[in-house]
Amino acid sequence: MTSPSFKFLVPASLLMVGMAACEPAVDEATLNARLAEVQADLEDRFTPGLHTLMVDLGVRHANLWFAGEAENWPLADYMVHELEELVEEIEALHPTYREVRVAELIGEMTHPAIEALEDAVDAGDLAAFQRAYDDLTVACNACHIASDKAALVMQRPTAPMSTNLRFTPER
Ligand code: HEC
Repeated sequence: MTSPSFKFLVPASLLMVGMAACEPAVDEATLNARLAEVQADLEDRFTPGLHTLMVDLGVRHANLWFAGEAENWPLADYMVHELEELVEEIEALHPTYREVRVAELIGEMTHPAIEALEDAVDAGDLAAFQRAYDDLTVACNACHIASDKAALVMQRPTAPMSTNLRFTPER
């Protein structure tokens, strides 16, 4: 047997559903907040982590050495610019890492050496290139120490990471 209260409840709940459908589902502020959340989530997912960018920096650092050693100045010029762009990307994407002011430090520490590298490459001066390269490497390591990552010691590479990129210039 159906109770009178149950008979009343069914139409009442249907009415409520109907009312909810007519009202705007969410107000604009809620919608904007939700949108911001989704945007932040997407950025988070598609922003490469500092470690990933550092691996790339290590590759550029190695390739730059072999381009310079081969006195392939156009290739060294390409590598030093890519390295510089990567440093700028790191500054923009990871201004801080734990307690470390990455953006500030990476600029301060690497820019003088990068500029010296650019000058050496422009001049085609191997000795100046090697000096500037070592200065850059010292800067890499100084920041690793400052970032509590002293175990990460960069050095002049002894063999190219890949052999499919030709370092010897076309003559
Ligand atoms: C702002 C300070 C800073 C500077 C400057 C810096 N690094 Fe790093 N590097 C870090 C930090 C912090 C990590 C560890 C990141 C992590 O644990 O997520 C790291 C990690 C690395 C790694 C290890 C990546 C891995 O996970 O395998 C390499 C390789 C590396 N850096 C290369 C370089 C090179 C080459 C330079 C210079 C051209 C350089 N770094 C300059 C802060 C710096």
